Order: sequence, then structure tokens, then C-alpha cells
Amino acid sequence: MNSLEGLLDRPVPAAPVDLTLRRGAARVLMDNWTGASTVPSPALYPHQWSWDSAFIAIGQRHLSARRAQRELESLLAAQWSDGRIPHIVFNPAVAADAYFPSPDFWQSSTAGRAAGAPPAPETSGIVQPPVHALAAWLVHVADPAESRRRGFLARVQPRLAAWHEYLLTRRDLGGRGLAALVHPWEPGMDNSPCWDRALARVEPATAGTFRRADLVHGHPADRPTDLDYGRYVRLAADYREAGYDDRGARHGFAVEDPSFNALLITSELALAAMSHELGMPGERYTERAGRLTRTLVERLWDAEAGLFRVRDLHDDTLVGEDSVSGLIPLLVPHLPEDVVRRLRATLLGPRFHAPATELVPSYDLTGHAFDSHRYWRGPAWFNTAWLIHRGLRAHGLRQDAERIRSGFLEQATRSDFAEYIDPATGEGRGARRFSWTAALALDMLCADHEEFRP
Ligand code: SER
Repeated sequence: MNSLEGLLDRPVPAAPVDLTLRRGAARVLMDNWTGASTVPSPALYPHQWSWDSAFIAIGQRHLSARRAQRELESLLAAQWSDGRIPHIVFNPAVAADAYFPSPDFWQSSTAGRAAGAPPAPETSGIVQPPVHALAAWLVHVADPAESRRRGFLARVQPRLAAWHEYLLTRRDLGGRGLAALVHPWEPGMDNSPCWDRALARVEPATAGTFRRADLVHGHPADRPTDLDYGRYVRLAADYREAGYDDRGARHGFAVEDPSFNALLITSELALAAMSHELGMPGERYTERAGRLTRTLVERLWDAEAGLFRVRDLHDDTLVGEDSVSGLIPLLVPHLPEDVVRRLRATLLGPRFHAPATELVPSYDLTGHAFDSHRYWRGPAWFNTAWLIHRGLRAHGLRQDAERIRSGFLEQATRSDFAEYIDPATGEGRGARRFSWTAALALDMLCADHEEFRP
């Protein structure tokens, strides 16, 4: 598939204005494709990122099901034998100083060898949210004939099952059944105020012992501070020194995150659907999703706040910060009705409703730490809007979902597929022509044409 025309030769379901958006989004995905996977952004993130690839595959399936399959397959080829899917798979053709922390920092093939890292490619040692099984299922349903012809599900299902097994066993650090995260990059919302309290206990790596590459391409006001970076580096280095062994490591940071676990539940249901399609029993995944749903509500629902909250495993308490992570469990199909009602009220209330853009801010608009520019401390992201849109639809809240969908499409166009935007003005922040923004715009254009039935 070499040309834009080739990628567009599938039926276009939308009006002419959508065709422009579709062409623009397809162009971003073509330009960011490396031959086996897609970089999130060529300058800021020049390798393969785990949850980015899942979102990218979800959009790419509308252009080329084969390419969407390859996106996920190339990520899964770097899976560790303990089941973990690393959050970055490094491209050896990219210069070592193009991104920090680089392969010589993570040292996966040596420091991670005992834990199960492959000899090649080099990867990071931490993880990102488990959107992959959901993505694989959506890629399959986009073109079941092509999927069957290539044996796609039969190849990815065992790897995805091992991934979930890793999260539900090695990462059950709280001992109550939820997956725990050991670095603020793992929930994908790196710099959220939800991590501030836990991060304050971490001694930062000494300034001058590392060189940030992100500030060469990103504006300092849009990115985390040096102090926070020092803490990210310390946590990753400590994990590496412990051989990335979850049983042996003493984690300086350990939290249960609502969004991560909600995605795990949704992906468990996708695994059940895949197993059924493959003629294998899937009840195990459905039952586990049910158990996880109950535990998510027991452990992380905060009725007073009207949303889910992060649990800090250091002192086993809920963190008193309201972030978009606490709304993403709307994705979970079998939530108690009053929880869905309260989540919807929170979404429409002053903390999270930004009428100018209709995208959901990453942090409480009225919160003490709100910052409309800085990474995950307030700006609105397109992937979280996509997840909430999907959750609203799953609960039959179609009008609310439609409001987010039109806001998404308008802001994606206006911002040239920005990485994130100021929720009050729509001003683009971070990278432009960002792959998951383009991919999810394609999926939003087709949102009425596909349904996920676990
Ligand atoms: N998101 C992190 C970064 O900004 C790491 O995945 O580099």
C-alpha cells in the first residue's frame, strides 16, 4: 500500500467536509508509518509506543486492516516472556540521542533478561494501559475475512492472554485483584496531579546526570518540570536495578489507577469475544471481567466525589484529586446504574465540562493544580475523549456521546491533529499531526458504522 489513494479506496461513509478530514488524517498516518509500525510523532516520540499503537490500529483499520494488524503484531513481537508488553519498542535506526530515556538507559536485553526481556529489539521495562485486546478485536471486526486469512486472532490471542495474566498476577501489588502501576508513565497520564503526593516521596535523580530530549521538540510550558523528570528517572533506574522483577523490587511508587483497570476489564471482554470467535471457551475472561468490575467499584469508586479515584498503595488511601482517569470507567458495561448516573453528572458539571470545545479536560477545571497547558494537568486529550465517547454509547447515552464526537472532530481539524488542546480555547499544545489524534478522528468518522459486542 504505497499511496494515499490506495489507502482511501474503501467506501467513504461521510459527507464532503468529512472527506477532507479523512484525507488529512490518512496523510498523518502514512507519513508517520515506518514500515512495520507508526511513530506517535516523528520528532517528539520517534519509536513505537504501546498504547499509542493500540489507538493507531483502531483508526488504521478503516484504511488498511492489514496495516492495522501489523501495527499490533510488531508491538507484540517485543513482548517479554513474563507477559509484559513494554511501553516503548526502540527502533535501532533512530539516533540514540533522539529520545530520552534511550535504550542504553533501560538496558532491557541485559538488565531485563532474567525477567524475560527479548534479546532484541531493545525496549523500555515499564508498561502502558491495556488497550491492545480491545484494539485487536476492533481490527478483526473491521475486516474478518482478511483477519481469518492471515490467522490474525489465532496469533495474537495467546499473547494478549499472557499480557493480562502478567497484569493480574505480577502486578497485583495491592493483593486485591486490581493491576498496580509502578511508574507515572504506566497509566499513560504521566504528569497528572494524581501522582504528586506519591511522587513527593521519591528522591529525584541528580540534575545533570541525564539530558532531556523532549524539550528540544516540546515547549517547556507544555511539558513536565525538571523536578518531576528527575523523579521519573529515579523510579525507572531503581526498577532497572531490581532487574524489572516485580516480586523482588521495592517500589517507591505503587498505585491502582481507575482508567488502567477499566481498560483491562474492557480488554478482558474483548479476549472473551476473540476466544469465542476462535472456538475456544471465553467464560474465564467474562467472569474475570465481572470480578474486576466489582473490585474496581469497591476499591476506587468515591461516591462523595462522584468519580473513581486513584488508590495509593503506600498508605492504602484514595488520592484526593479529580482527573479524567476517574471518568474513563464509563467504558465498563456492567457498572451499577447509580455509578453511571453520577459519572454522567460529573462529566456535565463544572469540574469537567468545557463547553467551548466539548472535550474532557485531563484534570478538574476548578482544581488547585489545574494548568491548561501542561502535560496531563488540565489539557484535553483526544484519546480520553474517544474512550468516554465509547463509554457513553455503551450506556445508551447517545446525545452526550454525539456532543463529544462533534467537538472531537472540530478540534482535531482546527488544531491540525494536536497531541492535546487547551479545553477552554481549543488552542493546540504539544506535538501536531499526532498519530492517535488522526487515527481516532478516522474512527470517530465511522463511529456509527461499527459496534463492539463482547
Ligand atoms: N510519555 C512519556 C514521554 O513523554 C514516556 O512515555 O516521553
